[in-house]
Amino acid sequence: MGYRILETDDIPGYLHERGHWADLDDIRVREVSDGNMNRVFLASSADGTRSLALKQALPWVRVAGPSWPMNPDRADAEARAYEQVAKVAPDKIPAIHGYDPENYALVMEDMSDLEVLRTLLNDGASYGPHTSAGIGEFVAQLSFATSDFGMPSADRKALIAASVSPELCKITEDVVLSEPYIEHEHNHWHEGLDDLAAEFRADARLRTEVADLRHTFMTSAQALLHGDLHTGSVMVGEREDAPVVRVFDPEFSFVGPIGYDLGLYWANALVSEERARALGALSDHGDQLALSWEAFETEFRRLWTTRVDTFFDDAYLDRFLRRVWTESLGFAGTEIVRRIIGFAHLTDLTTLEDPVPASRRALLIGRELIVRRDELNAPNAVRAVVQPT
Ligand SMILES: Nc1ncnc2c1ncn2[C@@H]1O[C@H](COP(=O)(O)OP(=O)(O)OP(=O)(O)O)[C@@H](O)[C@H]1O
Ligand SMILES: [Mg+2]
Repeated sequence: MGYRILETDDIPGYLHERGHWADLDDIRVREVSDGNMNRVFLASSADGTRSLALKQALPWVRVAGPSWPMNPDRADAEARAYEQVAKVAPDKIPAIHGYDPENYALVMEDMSDLEVLRTLLNDGASYGPHTSAGIGEFVAQLSFATSDFGMPSADRKALIAASVSPELCKITEDVVLSEPYIEHEHNHWHEGLDDLAAEFRADARLRTEVADLRHTFMTSAQALLHGDLHTGSVMVGEREDAPVVRVFDPEFSFVGPIGYDLGLYWANALVSEERARALGALSDHGDQLALSWEAFETEFRRLWTTRVDTFFDDAYLDRFLRRVWTESLGFAGTEIVRRIIGFAHLTDLTTLEDPVPASRRALLIGRELIVRRDELNAPNAVRAVVQPT
């Protein structure tokens, strides 16, 4: 039948066609899309006992419409990432019930009993002890399994080839890893940041360091990444009195540097900390970088004992983890900067009554992480950068 753009009323028929809920004829559907890119629908049985989520990629950016075309095959990348994670960390993603490549539509577990982490944090919640540890473990499990340590060389080459994602990588290369440091029509910022935005564009050392990170992003095929691991890609909550942490929306997935996933999460944690500081509501925000790193490192070291290629020795593991740490800091810095003087900003800061002081602090932290990443060798060194003097 070809690619069809599904509307709310089409969903019950579509679910039947795909073999879901053949025994149900009264299916209720509502659209819950709140991202920029895709459509998301929630379907439930009339008695409310069963539910599903359906996400469809359109051939354009949802909020822009057909004037901004975008290849819907980003949904293939999302399905592929979920398939890999399902093998090694099924408890950290929604259960996937089916992917339809013809319609770029993914049917998955309804997670509407959970909450998006950014929303909770913006409302004043703390992280709690499980969230960042869960994220660190997630990154370790996905990255180890899809690295040359976890996967035979030939399988890895096939994964790299299948996961090439030129259009979405180009967005990151431009929007995150170059535009904020040059004059570009995408860039905008609060007028209280005029001086810093100009300073960052004129800073030759900063630019070279960002160029180095950008080139790492383009060339370092360490492992399959989530690719967009910010606090809006994480849901948390409780089920049967146990904490639940779920990562979703891996449409930017590709084989790249592991530090890009950790760094994105750290940037968002550091910005959430500046929001809390501005509101006088700091709680456990400052612990999250260390918690996620420690969980990542512990899990990666545990998995190392199962590596498929033992020419890689323990001393090499130490060196590799140090590289991941350093690159994570650099990518964290670039993510902070681009979210304040680049194209797409964060509600953590934009919803503050006066976003300027927190944004200025965050920008300066971001620059420090980029230019001093080699010497900041542990979480407490990062704390020293973040602590107000
Ligand atoms: N499985 C699910 N269960 C319940 N709600 C979901 C589910 N998947 C997505 N949502 C809701 O839909 C929203 C958008 O989902 P998602 O982030 O995957 O879409 P997107 O268009 O790729 O967003 P973005 O523009 O941020 O990339 C989420 O913030 C969440 O509120
Ligand atoms: Mg998305």
